[in-house]
Amino acid sequence: MSSEIFVTKPLFPKLENYEGHLKDIWDSAWLSNNGQKHKELEFKLREYLNAPNISLFNNGTIALMTAIQSLRLQGEVITTPFTFPATTHVLPWNNIDPVFCDIHPERLTIDYDKIESLITARTSAILGVHVYGVPCHVDEIQQIADSHGLKVIYDAAHAFTTEYKGKPIGSYGDITMFSFHPTKLFHTGEGGALVYNDDNLKRRIEYLKNFGIKNEEEVLLPGINGKMNELQASMGLEVLPLVAQEQVKRSEIRTLYRKAFEGVDHLNLVEMPDSATNSEQYLCLRVAVPGCPDARNQVYEKLKLNGINARKYFFPLVSQYPCYRASSSASPENLPVANRIANEVLCLPLYSTLQTSDVEKITDLIAGVVNGY
Ligand SMILES: Cc1ncc(COP(=O)(O)O)c(C=O)c1O
Repeated sequence: MSSEIFVTKPLFPKLENYEGHLKDIWDSAWLSNNGQKHKELEFKLREYLNAPNISLFNNGTIALMTAIQSLRLQGEVITTPFTFPATTHVLPWNNIDPVFCDIHPERLTIDYDKIESLITARTSAILGVHVYGVPCHVDEIQQIADSHGLKVIYDAAHAFTTEYKGKPIGSYGDITMFSFHPTKLFHTGEGGALVYNDDNLKRRIEYLKNFGIKNEEEVLLPGINGKMNELQASMGLEVLPLVAQEQVKRSEIRTLYRKAFEGVDHLNLVEMPDSATNSEQYLCLRVAVPGCPDARNQVYEKLKLNGINARKYFFPLVSQYPCYRASSSASPENLPVANRIANEVLCLPLYSTLQTSDVEKITDLIAGVVNGY
């Protein structure tokens, strides 16, 4: 087995527990299309996330694409460049132009103060990301959206179970997407979900994720195949009970990192605002050494040489991809904070079986690099 350390380790349930579900599936001869496991997971997740409505998907990207279709968005959508490619890619897949907005210097989420100046007659929505589980400024964003008649979608791929101002993260905006990719805390192998308050959206979303099919003879909408299958749902049923304990252990590991970095110059962990709970999916370190823009890369290389695979989430910015960089909103002068921070961030290993000695090794290596400046 490799002794390399990765940024995360997926939660695996006991094999015999999963095999129990396989037996059920074999007996029922039902593999997809709203089967028993799907129904059970949908019910449990709705409770777990305290969501009025939930629709399960085969992955988070298709879920987000469907969210955009369901709200009939068009024209332009204002979004953050500091994210995973999928957040932005779903826009051109819906024939929508992304308009990049700079990010808030502390939360690293879309900067609500800079949204209004980007609104045009073509703007139909704001698409924010609760990056590393840090909530966007949801109240301020909602106020802007309401005063301009815009929809609000949140990508909460990193924010499973997050609560903000005493409410579940999925209760904000028109629709919230969760990813259940194995790199996420809760996963279904691959998978995702949409959570939303408006009961009227349920039917449309359910049609859209099943080719627009209403019944054997009626197809109402140009839908897609977004269905979660029984194998995925079974994985979710077994992973869900493991989540809370995993979060406790990850939180303890976060404390070890925090203590080790205390008093070391140039290093800051990205922390939750006071009014938010931590999903414990990512541990992001900011390495900012004045006059040394390459410091983060040097830390990254040092770790890599020692078998530790940290990740530069999110470098490069989405606005720097060849498919987007020609657009005027993508220019670095319009996105100074995002461009600076993309060169500072490094996500470090965070999972329950990470040993204290591993954390010591990682933090010593990092301190060794930055103490040299
Ligand atoms: C912020 C963000 N959005 C969207 C996605 C895409 O989700 P999925 O892999 O489930 O399609 C991911 C990661 O996978 C992500 O990190």
